[in-house]
Amino acid sequence: MNTVILSSKDDDVSIAASLIRAGEVVGMPTETVYGLAADATNEEAVKKIFEAKGRPCDNPLIVHICRFDMVYDIASSVPELAYKLAEKFWPGPLTMIMPKSDKIPYVTSGGLDTVGIRFPSHKVALDLIEKSGKPLAAPSANLSGSPSPTTLRHVFDDMNGRIPAIIDGGDCEVGVESTVISFDADGAVRILRPGKISYEDLLGVTDRVYIDKGVLAQLDINAKVASPGMKYKHYSPKANVIILDGSVSAFKEYVCNCKTDGTYCLLFDDSEAVDGVDYLTYGITSEEQAHLLFERLREFDEMGAKTVYARCPSKDGVGLAVYNRILRSAGFNVIKLDD
Ligand code: TXA
Ligand code: MG
Repeated sequence: MNTVILSSKDDDVSIAASLIRAGEVVGMPTETVYGLAADATNEEAVKKIFEAKGRPCDNPLIVHICRFDMVYDIASSVPELAYKLAEKFWPGPLTMIMPKSDKIPYVTSGGLDTVGIRFPSHKVALDLIEKSGKPLAAPSANLSGSPSPTTLRHVFDDMNGRIPAIIDGGDCEVGVESTVISFDADGAVRILRPGKISYEDLLGVTDRVYIDKGVLAQLDINAKVASPGMKYKHYSPKANVIILDGSVSAFKEYVCNCKTDGTYCLLFDDSEAVDGVDYLTYGITSEEQAHLLFERLREFDEMGAKTVYARCPSKDGVGLAVYNRILRSAGFNVIKLDD
């Protein structure tokens, strides 16, 4: 199959929409990461997403909408708090899990009775949903297990020959996937996957917000998890990533003592460089780090890195999302350094 690159102009988005209506999969830009979009109500189309990604079929897809009232078609009931959260954070990088309606097939929900719903803010994503006239199921557009794609090139590298078209929407602004939340039986909000809409942001709307234990701890592959995506190895570059938690001087000393061929560092800025060790930086603020993390993980692969020592990011705000992703790319390997 030839993979065509479409522009974000009206005519091209219309071509993408006709592909979606014909039951095909299209690469779609969003404000977080690129997605692989197909008609969420069409089982055969959704199966093609799982095939293109090589994704396990019990890992549910998020359904994307372009107007709030589409929720009523997708969810069988809407928690009271979801209205307040939607008012504050939609359109934007927040996915809310609700009981699914009969219109959403079990293929889309990974066999669950619930569905994750997201109203993205990216204009091209909204145009594509509108023109398709369908809610769009869209996981991140990477091969299963690889870092999520934040540029057109990342999507092309992973999906060339696997899907008919990708829409070029430029680089994704946020860089990490949406915050995924569910509602506990007593109405409290549970963060299953941290993102740009932070724990602190959610506390601005309700005082009962919990961070699921799967966000920061490794779960057993057989454990019953709140979000199936949490049990799979994620965001893995080919290199062995190791997070070093400590001061800059302790970091430098540690890397100096164990550097070999193929050792690289992932730093916040140039001042942390270790003599004789190549490195990439991904910024001082959590926003910058979120924007660049996946790009840098892919670059290390291209550079042939064998081991990457990473500085330990802050867990505040969107930093919790950065930490959650890098922790998974490191297979939970964090070394606490003595200062
Ligand atoms: O920003 C995003 O959310 C991107 C863009 C394309 O919108 N999409 C994305 O989808 O990251 P995906 O499939 O790569 O990640 C969705 C995560 C998975 O970990 C999945 O297990 C979880 O959300 N999820 C989806 N539906 C769920 C449900 N009904 N219950 C629990 N977890 C769910
Ligand atoms: Mg993903």
